Amino acid sequence: MISKKMIKALNEQIALEGYASFLYLSMASWCDKEALEGCAQFMHRQSEEERMHMLKIFHYLSEVDGHALTPAIKQPPHEFESVRSMLEQVYKHEQKVTASINKLVKLSYEENDFTTLDFLQWYVEEQREEEALMRSILDKVKLIGDGPMSLYYIDQEIEKINGKAAAEAAAGEG
Ligand code: FEO
Repeated sequence: MISKKMIKALNEQIALEGYASFLYLSMASWCDKEALEGCAQFMHRQSEEERMHMLKIFHYLSEVDGHALTPAIKQPPHEFESVRSMLEQVYKHEQKVTASINKLVKLSYEENDFTTLDFLQWYVEEQREEEALMRSILDKVKLIGDGPMSLYYIDQEIEKINGKAAAEAAAGEG
């Protein structure tokens, strides 16, 4: 049986994933406004992924007889200084999510909740992949530079990542 403490912690994770989904949606909208089509598509996809991460915990809590709570909507920022600064914020948020997942893993050990521990393994892997992806994007942005002349190339690089992700999803890997 899942403990109240674990249910509460998983509901906090729902809120964090939900906020990430809204934050990335806001970023997608900003990219659209700045005519950065590749970046906008990328952030829309990231936003959808975060919604899926949130729903996965919802379904898990129902399955183990917990109660998943819809989080309050906190308005994310909607203006960003530059693409680089926006992407740095994504990376920072992903690091925050990783730290939170690690805390959940620790709690599931403390509670002897090996069902939740097993469930969380998917998130551990996912965070490793997401952090690696954001680091590789930031490395490219640093190489290209983020002046006005570079925006086109940054957008193209991100478009390539979108194409790769779409191909992986079509092959059933994404
Ligand atoms: Fe669901 Fe990217 O953290």
